[in-house]
Amino acid sequence: MFFDAFLTHISTLFIRWGKLAWFFSLFSVLCWQTAWGQGKSFKDDMAERTRACTACHGEQGRAGPDGYYPRLAGKPAGYLFNQLKNFQEGKRHYNLMSRLVDPLSDKYLQEIAQYFADLKLPYPPPTMPPQRASAKVLKLGKQLALEGDLERGLPACMACHGPLLTGVQPYVPGLLGLPLDYLNAQLGAWQTHQRKAREPDCMKEVVAKLQSEDLVAVATWLSTQNMPKDSAPASKVSTPLKAPWQCGSAPVLSKLQP
Ligand code: HEC
Ligand code: HEC
Repeated sequence: MFFDAFLTHISTLFIRWGKLAWFFSLFSVLCWQTAWGQGKSFKDDMAERTRACTACHGEQGRAGPDGYYPRLAGKPAGYLFNQLKNFQEGKRHYNLMSRLVDPLSDKYLQEIAQYFADLKLPYPPPTMPPQRASAKVLKLGKQLALEGDLERGLPACMACHGPLLTGVQPYVPGLLGLPLDYLNAQLGAWQTHQRKAREPDCMKEVVAKLQSEDLVAVATWLSTQNMPKDSAPASKVSTPLKAPWQCGSAPVLSKLQP
C-alpha cells in the first residue's frame, strides 16, 4: 500500500516537473546501463532500457504528440547512430537529451539505433492538409523535392532521400511523415549552423542554395504528402551523386552500387 502511494506520488511529480523527469530519466538510463554491464537482468530488454528516450520520443519511438519530438521508429540505423554521435559531438543541440546520450558508449548507441530502426510501426496520416497551403507554394515545393533546380545546380531532394523520399539505407533519413514544424526547424538549423553533419556536409550546401520561400515551400509540400504503402527506406541509390556533391555522413550516395 505504502509503496503504491509512494509510486503514485513520484509519478505525479514526474509528470509535473520536467526537471525532475529529466533527473529520473538520467538515473534510470544509468541504472539500466550498469545492470546491463554487469550482466544482470531486471526486465532487461531494449524497450525497458530506452524508456527515458520514449518519455520524449513517444511510445516505441513513434514521435511525441506535438511535432516537436521526432519519430525514431523505422529510420535507418546508420542515420540514427550518426545523430546520436552528432548530439554527443555538439553538431546538434538539445541539452536535456544530450545529457542522457553523452555518457553512452558507441556500441550501446549502435544497439539503441538498431533497436529503433527495426521497429516497424504504421505512420499516421499527414497533420498538414494540402488545403492549408497555396497551390503556388505546393507546386514550387514539389518541383524542388522531385526535380531540383538545374539553373541553381540544386539536385532534387529525391536524388539523395530516395525515389519515394522514404530515405536510403543505412544513412539517409526519409522526408515523409515529418511534421512541418520539425522540417522547418531542421532546415533552419542547418542555415544558422546550429545543425551540422559530417563534412562534406551536403545538407549545408543544399540549404545554402535555397531562399527562405523555397524552404517554406519544400517543407510545406513534404508535410502534406502521404507515406507510400511501403515506408521502408530504399536499399540503395540507382544513380550515384555527381561531383561536386558529396555527403560525409552518407558516402555510399556517391558510389555506384551493384
Ligand atoms: C527531454 C526529451 C528527450 C529525451 C529524454 C530524448 N530525446 Fe532524442 N530528441 C529530442 C528532441 C527535442 C530532438 C530534436 C532536436 C532537434 O531539434 O534537433 C531529439 C532528436 C533525437 C534524434 C534525432 C532524430 C532525427 O530524426 O534526426 C535521435 C536519434 C534521438 N533524439 C534519440 C534519442 C535517444 C536514443 C534517447 C534516449 C537515450 C533520447 N533521444 C532522449 C528530445 C529528447
Ligand atoms: C546531396 C544529397 C542530399 C540532397 C540533394 C538533399 N539531402 Fe537532405 N539529407 C542528406 C543527408 C546525407 C542527410 C543526413 C544528414 C545527417 O547525417 O545528419 C540529410 C538530412 C536531411 C534532413 C533531416 C531529417 C531528419 O529526420 O532530421 C532534412 C529535413 C533534409 N535532409 C531535407 C532535405 C530537403 C528538403 C532536400 C531538398 C531541397 C534535401 N534534403 C536534399 C542528403 C541530401
